[in-house]
Amino acid sequence: MKVAIIGQGYVGLTISAFAGEFFEIVGFDNNINIVDQLNEGISHIEGVEGATLRKWIKAGRYRATNRGSDIADVDLVVIAVPTPLTKNRKPDLGFIEAACKTIGENVKRPVLIINESTSFPGTLRSYIKPAIEKYSTGLIEHFYAISPERVDPGRTDFNQRNTPRLFAGLTPEASAKTREFYSKFCDNLVEVSSPEVAEAAKLFENTFRQVNIALVNEFAQIAHSLGISVYETLDAANTKPYGFMKFTPSAGVGGHCIPVDPTYLAAVAEEHGAPATFIRRANEVNLEMSEYIVRRVVEDNGGSLQGTNVLVVGVAYKPNVADVRETAAELVVEHLRSNGAVVSWHDDVVGKWKGESSAPLEGADIAVVVTKHDGVDEKKILASAPYVFDTTGKVKGAKGL
Ligand SMILES: NC(=O)c1ccc[n+]([C@@H]2O[C@H](COP(=O)([O-])OP(=O)(O)OC[C@H]3O[C@@H](n4cnc5c(N)ncnc54)[C@H](O)[C@@H]3O)[C@@H](O)[C@H]2O)c1
Repeated sequence: MKVAIIGQGYVGLTISAFAGEFFEIVGFDNNINIVDQLNEGISHIEGVEGATLRKWIKAGRYRATNRGSDIADVDLVVIAVPTPLTKNRKPDLGFIEAACKTIGENVKRPVLIINESTSFPGTLRSYIKPAIEKYSTGLIEHFYAISPERVDPGRTDFNQRNTPRLFAGLTPEASAKTREFYSKFCDNLVEVSSPEVAEAAKLFENTFRQVNIALVNEFAQIAHSLGISVYETLDAANTKPYGFMKFTPSAGVGGHCIPVDPTYLAAVAEEHGAPATFIRRANEVNLEMSEYIVRRVVEDNGGSLQGTNVLVVGVAYKPNVADVRETAAELVVEHLRSNGAVVSWHDDVVGKWKGESSAPLEGADIAVVVTKHDGVDEKKILASAPYVFDTTGKVKGAKGL
């Protein structure tokens, strides 16, 4: 079976690498640099080994392309393109629309089309299917299904094989074909009664995380005002064997999912006249954390950061990845600069960010740890400045939340 995977980023390339063992994969991406790199067997995604790609390329089971005609003869298409927010923080389905255009214009016989991109309930039925039909010449009765992706880049204990996968087809036949496809490389398939349930479940999973992160971030501020350790208090609460799940405070949320997906849910809720109060407020609390952290740093340093050299340690949105999308570090840097600090940053996993390069981990007046990669030595962080503020809870001996 020949499978086209539209989008060769975190989700699409991860699936390609797993599915390459069972199918012939055409990795379609409209970024020619990514396509060229992938065809040389070089991976740009953590958790996908170049060696795996090279193995599939050699066996004739993987090829990247940016030519629509290369997907004309596939049996199955997976959509894995970005679903960001517009400038006004509304769902932006522009990438989905472009993927639908590629499919509609090139795939001329009925195939199974599975969406793995995260979006609001109704996207498969009311947006993807009509869009593909709009771009097709003649009516082709494709099979449509959704299977929201749950990949957690950089994570090694859960992967495509052992992470339960939700799915639903628009028709029973589409569901059956979807089960057949994923059963090759996923051991636990969970079929739900409609695509809308699968789409909503994915949004709720990430909304649950966002709201709980906001709650613990607010609690960190309460604990500090009471003069008690937030970490000790959370560990104490976590001894309860049921009804509690531990989240830890941070400089905010980042990445493509947690700051974005809940806004998709809020948008669709409000469109249907339902409340999204928690979701909206959680987003605000998480965004405000950067300001709170900088306020704490200012208070500890005589009330001003004017002309002070501040090193932000870790600008990726989470440990051990190079991904800086929506990273909380951006707001931390902004607030430090608006307080007069001279800001540089250290993150050798990221390397380059916003036209600047990672600075050495030394010689600062103040260090603010936003993300702690496993490979960064705690002692070196502590030695990088006379005052270190840690937002991760991982640098013992530093000031912190
Ligand atoms: N990254 C994650 O951890 C994660 C986890 C679960 C779900 N998701 C969801 O999966 C979807 C994809 O996210 P991602 O992190 O893989 O994004 P990504 O930015 O890493 O990759 C997307 C790729 O799609 C390509 N692309 C964009 N438009 C295209 C088009 N019209 N045709 C072909 N290629 C196109 C881009 O060049 C890019 O390489 C999003 O909806 C996201 O919310 C992401």
